[in-house]
Formats: sequence, C-alpha cells, structure tokens
Amino acid sequence: MPTLDRRQFLKLAAAMGATLAWSCSTLRPSASGWRERRELYPHGVASGDPDANSVLLWTRRPYDDGREKATLLVEVAEDPGFMRVIATTAAPVLAASDWTCRVLVADLPAAGEFWYRFVDEAGNGSRIGRTLTAPAPDDPRPAKFAFVSCQSAPEGAMNAYRRMIWEDERAAPDERLGFVLHLGDFVYEVIQTPDQVKDGHRYDRKITFPVSYKHGRKVANDRFTVPGSLDDYRALYKGYLVDPDLQDARARWPFVCIWDNHEFSWLAWQSIMSFPGEGEMPGQKLKVAANQAWFEYQPMRVTAPGKPLDRFDAPVVADVAVTEFDDAGLGLEPNNLAAIESLIVYRALRWGRHIDLILTDQRAFRGKDYSNDEKLGALFEGVPYPFFPEALSMQVDSGREYAGGHPPAEIVFGAKSIPNYRIDGPPQSMLGAKQKAWFLERLRNATATWKIWGTSLGTHDQRVDPQNLPEGFVPKDWPKWTDGYAVQSNGDWGGCYHERGEIFDTVRDHGITGFAILAGDLHSFWAGYAAKSLPPHGKFEPVGVSFVGGSITSPGGQEAQEHGNKKNPLRKLFIADREDGSMEPTMNLLLNHGVRSALEYAESGDLTAAHAVSNPELAPHLDFVDLGGHGYGVVSVDANRMVTDFVCIPRPIERAATPDGGPLRYRVRHDVSLWSAGERPQMRQLLLEGDASLST
Ligand SMILES: [Fe+2]
Repeated sequence: MPTLDRRQFLKLAAAMGATLAWSCSTLRPSASGWRERRELYPHGVASGDPDANSVLLWTRRPYDDGREKATLLVEVAEDPGFMRVIATTAAPVLAASDWTCRVLVADLPAAGEFWYRFVDEAGNGSRIGRTLTAPAPDDPRPAKFAFVSCQSAPEGAMNAYRRMIWEDERAAPDERLGFVLHLGDFVYEVIQTPDQVKDGHRYDRKITFPVSYKHGRKVANDRFTVPGSLDDYRALYKGYLVDPDLQDARARWPFVCIWDNHEFSWLAWQSIMSFPGEGEMPGQKLKVAANQAWFEYQPMRVTAPGKPLDRFDAPVVADVAVTEFDDAGLGLEPNNLAAIESLIVYRALRWGRHIDLILTDQRAFRGKDYSNDEKLGALFEGVPYPFFPEALSMQVDSGREYAGGHPPAEIVFGAKSIPNYRIDGPPQSMLGAKQKAWFLERLRNATATWKIWGTSLGTHDQRVDPQNLPEGFVPKDWPKWTDGYAVQSNGDWGGCYHERGEIFDTVRDHGITGFAILAGDLHSFWAGYAAKSLPPHGKFEPVGVSFVGGSITSPGGQEAQEHGNKKNPLRKLFIADREDGSMEPTMNLLLNHGVRSALEYAESGDLTAAHAVSNPELAPHLDFVDLGGHGYGVVSVDANRMVTDFVCIPRPIERAATPDGGPLRYRVRHDVSLWSAGERPQMRQLLLEGDASLST
C-alpha cells in the first residue's frame, strides 16, 4: 500500500467530507481543558473504517442558540489519560450537517490503539472513545473481529453489545477485537406509533418508541409509519444512538458498516419504494435523504463518485417513475441514477496480512426481483404450501440464460402452466454491472490469506423437500407436492442463482483460496459452504465457506412461527408444541435435514432418530441452522485457519440487568483450515458452551 503524504491526505479527507487531523512529531499532554459534559454530545462518539495509518472519528454536538456553525477541537492520544496526545485539529460542526462531525486522523502508526475526544470552544468535552488502526498489510500476526446485523431498537435490547464489550475488556490484548463489521439494518426505518401497536406488544416483546417522525407517512393499511423527510431519517439515527449499549460499542471499537434495506426503505430496490398493499412508487427524494443521514451518522470512507464533498452534496432530484432498465436491471431514469449514485458504499478494506474485506451493496443497484411477479399468481391459486418450487425459482431468476440458454416456453407448476414471461429477459442482478465488475476485480486481485466478502444478504440456498412429505400428512383437499425441491425464501443471494454462480465461478476459475462470506439479514445463525449448485440440478462443489450472523435484537423466523397460526396443518415442520407448553424449532431440522427429520423430532423428541431419517441430498451446503438465534459472530484468522464463533444470547426482550449482558445460550465454533486451489474447504464444528443440538 503506498504511503500518502499530507497533501494527498488533505485531498482524501475532503473527498470523504472530513476534516484532516495530522499526527504531531512530538507527543504532548493535553492542553485543551477538556471537562466531560456527555449530555452536550448526546449521541456519543464513534470511529470507522480504519486502515493502517488512518481512521475516521465522529461525534455530534448540537447547538440550539440559533447559530449555524461551531468549531470543535479533536484530540487523539496514545493513552486514555491524554498525556501523550498524538494528533489534534479544529473541526467544524454545521447545522447543515445536523451538527455531526467527521474527522480523518492520519499519519498514525499501524496496529495502534488510541483514545480520542472532542472539546467545544467552552471546554465542554465529549466522552472518550477508543479506536484502533489496522495492522500493516504485511503484518503476519493473527487478527480478530466481530460481525453483527439487524438491531431493531423498538423491539428489543442490545444485550449482545454488552456481552461483546464484557468479553473484550477481559481478553488478553492480542485476543481483542480489531473492529466490528456491521452488515446492515443498523436502523429500521419502519416504525410503529403507539396507536399502531396492538396491546403494546409484538410477540412477547414490549414495543418502545425511541423514534418519532415529524413528516412520517402511514403505510400498509396504517400498520406502520415510515420517514417522509431528511429530518425523519436523522431522527431515526438519533433515536438509536442514545441506546447505552450501542453507544458504548461505538465508543470502544471502530465500526465498518454497510447498509441493508432498512437504512432506506423496507421493500425498496434502487430508489423504487413499495409497501404491502401499495404498488411501487418512485422514491428518489427519500433515497437521497436516507443516503445523507447515513453519511452524516456513519463515519465511513464513502464518497459520491467524482464529486469531492466537504459536506453531503445532496443532488436535487424529483420523484419520477422508473420505466427503462439496462441489461443488469439498472433504472436509467436520471433522477434514479442521481439518487442511488449520491453515495457509493461498496468498498474494500485491508487488515494485516490475513484479511481482505470486500463489502458490497445489495440494495442500491439491484434489479427487479422477478419471483414476486403477479403473473405467478395463476399457478399458485388454491396451493396452500408456504414454499416456492426450486426449479421455478431458478427459471425466473436466470431468464434467457436458464437451462444453458434454452429456457422453456412455459412456466409449469403441478398441472398448471403460464407463458414464460422471463424467456427473453436478462438474469436478475443483485449488484448491477458496474459494482459486479468492481467486485470480481477486487476478488481476483485480493492477496490476503482470507478474502472475506461482507454482504448484507446471505448466500445459502434455503431449500426444503416437500416432495418427501409422508402420505396422509397434508389435508386431503391439498394437492400433493409433485414438483421436487422447494425453497422457503429466495429474496437473497440464495435465489440469485445466476449472478451467485458468476461470482463463485470466478473464485474457482482463478484458484482463489480462503474465500469466506459473512452476511446478516436473516435474523438467524447459519454456517456452511459457498456452492453454486446442489444435487440433483448440479454437483455440490464448494468454493468457500459462508456464514450468517444472528440479529442483535430483531425477531427471527422461529419467533414468528411460535406466535403464528397454531392450526396450520404444516406446523410440525416448523415448531413442535410440547405438552408443558414449550416449543421447539423443528424448522432448523427442516432446512438442515428435511421434512422427515422435522416430523420425526416433532413426534418423538428423539434427535438421533430424527438425524437417522435425514435427507442427505437436501443440504450438503449447511452445517448449522438456528432460526431463533440472536447475538454476534467472532472471526479469528491467521496464516492457516479461520475460526468463526457464534455467540448466541437468549431472546433479547429486556435489557440485561448484569454488566456481562446476561447469560449465553451457546457458543459454537466453526474451524476451517486454509485449503489449496482445487481443494474443498472443510469445516469442523465444536460446541464450546451451552446447547445447540437442534441446529446441527
Ligand atoms: Fe433485519
């Protein structure tokens, strides 16, 4: 990595909308007169996107005396007592940026630990934050980080962060986390107002109201409220950042964040929004607003292409219907392009010799999801199964490329068929052409031991085998499932077969080893392999390993099923209701072993018997599924191994009363040795504490 000089850093800082703080040649004790006044910095401090000689710092210091601008002093020290101050600078805070402050501290030593704080003109100081710089690119020492996602603040407590802090504070210095990778849903823009919450609860969770919108819009038949302005998106971050556990986590480690859907809009793709019961609507103005708030509140190395920013330079856009698309599904309408390109968050980071972290954006450039098409309705009339046929999922994904470029003229399900509306269409794209080209190039050129792809969306096929349901299990008036494998969901990379195949083929064809995927979104823990196909459609030939981390707070599939329709004839495939009123998640077995295992366990409660009737063809790509897991993942890497621990906490309904964040449900390890080109990755599973037996 070339070392930049001060002038180049100045340019870089300006391009990231940050003030530059350059390290001093001699270390001195602080002379700022800092007196801590946390209440004047109500959203804490944060740092982000460290590299080997710089890191971004953040705070927010609001004023309500009518001024438009103020100046803060930033101090960065090598010790928490600020006796060895290594960098200081004056940084503006502007009303126009909602009083947020971004500072790039540069010329720091690699693999360093630093403390930082902000002071206003009257000596009023922020809390003290701690941050780290990355090890140099040739640093051979082992590295460690955590990955998280999905932290709906109104629905739960962020005990996972409390546990993470507790363990890190007690770890030996070389065993501590280097950064926290946040894979999206840092905030949920869909909120409920008190009148929209039935009995004050969702499931067993008491709903709180940390966020309110001035310009909120009621959607989905008045079930939810969504932001209507930039101020509303800003209010969302402010509502979340007063959470003490989240705030302490941001003050302890640098974060590396990408977004998923909820940083903008639940069901949106590009700038196109939609809500249940409402059709698609253009959302260019709100997309720009969401991007601006993200930029102001997340200290990340992100820019608008070709436009140096000294603050977020919001393009003026109009909400115009998007009707023309390129071959990768990109909406060519100029306001759509201006909105989605107003902030580019896909990027790569290097951490020592062993980590190339490549982060992609699955929302701003993705094409239409063809599996939602209304035309499919005719096939599924009177079909009560909650599954989607796998072959059909592949057919609508791949369009004209399906079946080696010879798609059938019809889409068939059971005895019904419709014309193949995807026969001439391009395959679905999650990344868009430009990002995909960038991503594949970064992958091919990655030189670290482990090439880690951070994606908000998981890559595993979520497959089930309803063709194996025993005779007499479904009601007599249901049609028999005759269409082979099905998928439970196909909204993520698991249903984006064609593009996922291109990525995995690149890994294979270029002999890339140490390829590992980390994802969020599913509110559940998954461990397994990166494979483009499964039998009987193709051979299972994994090119890497793939993990999904449980949510910090957001409810997962198991919780939804527990509270779902208890009279559902298929209920035993998801939940086993025990006589004492307890419930067990057979749905983990359903995805990992198949319908026979799920039913056997529901009937007998005998896990050995359930595993004995496992369908070995169903999920060779999965080693672990827990659809009720919350918590976080911890990844440790060195020259030979990647060790991924799932740290699972009980359902985070209440804030933990103890400083350790409460008990653990389990800690399970997946240990992978580095493989050679052409070899298959292999993971070994080890239960370190607790019970995770239904997940394996
Ligand atoms: Fe989520």
